[in-house]
Amino acid sequence: MRPIILRGNLVSLSMLLREDLKHVWLWYNDRDVRKYLSFPEEIFFYEDELEWYEALRREKKHEKVFAILENSSRSLVGLVGLHRIDYHNGRAELGYFLAKEHWGHGYASEAVKLALEYAFEWLNLRKVYAHVFETNIASIRVLEKNGFQLAGRWRKHQYVPGEGFVDVLCYERFRE
Ligand SMILES: CC(C)(COP(=O)(O)OP(=O)(O)OC[C@H]1O[C@@H](n2cnc3c(N)ncnc32)[C@H](O)[C@@H]1OP(=O)(O)O)[C@@H](O)C(=O)NCCC(=O)NCCS
Repeated sequence: MRPIILRGNLVSLSMLLREDLKHVWLWYNDRDVRKYLSFPEEIFFYEDELEWYEALRREKKHEKVFAILENSSRSLVGLVGLHRIDYHNGRAELGYFLAKEHWGHGYASEAVKLALEYAFEWLNLRKVYAHVFETNIASIRVLEKNGFQLAGRWRKHQYVPGEGFVDVLCYERFRE
């Protein structure tokens, strides 16, 4: 059992537990997940994961990472986070990923909706932004379904294995 922070119809946001890290570590090194995240080329050791978790607890004012739990099974399916939280400017950067076996059920769309609710209603931020590679169609769809608008792009900015250099799209969503 763990506290539910925000509940949706399909998924809920909860706290990330140390025992989740062994799953997160596997997903984080899955090449199909990794290739669309920052540092696609990187390989993460389990100890890196533990250090990241400790830093997350220490720096929790400036970074919130939520476990996405499937409501029907209560099991962990992915993570969604608000990063670089900047209270002075009222903004944060959004990131998310799901284990591959849970793709295609609408979970990310709802998890992002809940993370926005946390950002706007609980943290009182005014803007959430995200960076997405132009070939990541599913993620672009998740953002657009949640009211994000394309603010600009960095052309041929990121090397994605198997895809070459792709544009990085900058999306933003204001509270109002
Ligand atoms: C991106 C990701 C989080 C999406 O998770 P998900 O739970 O499968 O997403 P959802 O089911 O909520 O929605 C995906 C949407 O994209 C659509 N979609 C998925 N693949 C698509 C494709 N190849 N072409 C067009 N649309 C596609 C789905 O139909 C759905 O739209 P709909 O609700 O209008 O039908 C997941 O694929 C993932 O973890 N990817 C790797 C990590 C990643 O890319 N993170 C984001 C970095 S910016």
